[in-house]
Amino acid sequence: MKEKSFADQTALITGGATGIGRSFTETLLEKGFGNVVIASRRKEVIDEATNELNQKYGGERVHSFAFDLREKEQTENLVEFCLDKFGAVDVLINNSGLAVPETVLELTDDGWDKVLDINLRGAMWLTKMLLPKMFEQDFGDIVNVSSQAGKNGYADVPSYCVSKYGLLGFAESVRDDVRKRNANVRVFNFCPGLVDVETPLDKKPRDGFIHVKNMAKTLAFSLSLDRNVILEDINIYSR
Ligand SMILES: NC(=O)c1ccc[n+]([C@@H]2O[C@H](COP(=O)([O-])OP(=O)(O)OC[C@H]3O[C@@H](n4cnc5c(N)ncnc54)[C@H](OP(=O)(O)O)[C@@H]3O)[C@@H](O)[C@H]2O)c1
Repeated sequence: MKEKSFADQTALITGGATGIGRSFTETLLEKGFGNVVIASRRKEVIDEATNELNQKYGGERVHSFAFDLREKEQTENLVEFCLDKFGAVDVLINNSGLAVPETVLELTDDGWDKVLDINLRGAMWLTKMLLPKMFEQDFGDIVNVSSQAGKNGYADVPSYCVSKYGLLGFAESVRDDVRKRNANVRVFNFCPGLVDVETPLDKKPRDGFIHVKNMAKTLAFSLSLDRNVILEDINIYSR
């Protein structure tokens, strides 16, 4: 199976400037990734993260792209930017996501659409747009950030649960497509419980949370496995 060193790989991380996405960005830079594109709506946030991380890790390897995952044209522009500049995206991390807390009796069409558009349809768009190149080069990884809310229902966030269950269902279909083509493309799903993205690295996380550094370690471990290893859903939560 085709192999590529991390130095020859480009990753695209949606929401890669904050929280879990930021820890993913940092671990890929530590592991020597050639290029990491971080993309989300707030230009000032991704630009600032890009400057900080390029200074910290060296090599101008981080690139920012402002876009809204709810807008198809902007998402197409992001894909075009990545393919024009780097030739391919080797690792797509569908990390952008949010919850609108509305119980089943409180659900609004706006809240429902927002959650489903960002958490599910946006991930589908990027996967659909980037998979052809992965198939063509016979190399690629897709990492979806689902949730324990993709495995269990919670009364306060039904739309979020639907989006995260849906992401896992979509990933199963992509895996089946990959299997049928015998393609060298892996699909990992993270299903985290509560993740503490605020506590500094050397401090204990809040009760009931895992420290975000464990997400980063698990990503680095997953991507480093031999290409023939199937690792699928990663349930990761605090005891
Ligand atoms: N933290 C947890 O306990 C936990 C647990 C399970 C799963 N998760 C999942 O982990 C992922 C990351 O969450 P986080 O906790 O790290 O929170 P976060 O820091 O708020 O990350 C969410 C990211 O999504 C981006 N985003 C939101 N709307 C967007 C849009 N329309 N277009 C493009 N990007 C958009 C945000 O950037 P902009 O505002 O700049 O657009 C932000 O960088 C989410 O999918 C979340 O559901 C989190």
